[in-house]
Amino acid sequence: MSTANASSPGSGKPRPSPINGVAVAAAIVVLLVVALMVGRQWFGPDASDDSTSGKAAIGGPFTLVDQDGQTVTDQTFLGSYMLIYFGYTYCPDVCPTSLARNRQAMDILGDKADAIVPMLISIDPERDTPELLKSYVPYFHPRMVGLTGSPEQVADVAQAYKVYYARATEDGKEADDENYLVDHSSFSYLMGPDGEFIQHFSHSMDAEAVAAKLAELL
Ligand code: NI
Repeated sequence: MSTANASSPGSGKPRPSPINGVAVAAAIVVLLVVALMVGRQWFGPDASDDSTSGKAAIGGPFTLVDQDGQTVTDQTFLGSYMLIYFGYTYCPDVCPTSLARNRQAMDILGDKADAIVPMLISIDPERDTPELLKSYVPYFHPRMVGLTGSPEQVADVAQAYKVYYARATEDGKEADDENYLVDHSSFSYLMGPDGEFIQHFSHSMDAEAVAAKLAELL
């Protein structure tokens, strides 16, 4: 409860109209911003709860480090489809579920899946070293590529793919340096052999649906 009483209700004079004008203008600005945000949610590339396709401005050049400590770029994977998931090895739930789903979709797809390089790009570069990725990715696919990099390199690739990530807070503060969680978007991205974005798949799609869509697209 406020203890201030200088401007308590009933003690004031009627407000002069210029203040009301400013308040109305501010309210209009707020409404415009809200309308813009809602518009983006409805019509933006992440709006669909299943999948969307098209030449949206998703993807682009990146330079990262693979699970063997080798520097790789987007050019390294030209000629193959990439099924890219952004996540982190410490993730307790969403990442393992999504990666297992992608594996299952590739299994359903059969031989056609040979054209796809399944990939995990870490959005937790402080903890996800190449060594850690090397011990993690084989659980999800024998050919899975795990990529990490400097915080700047990871920020760049995340921005190119419009991936959101941020250290989670608990009661308004971050957990300690070893045990934090990372909030992140959970789409998987299918990129073509030319490196162009083809389709993204939401976390909520099941393996059969992803496999059916892949079969259609490859
Ligand atoms: Ni996760």
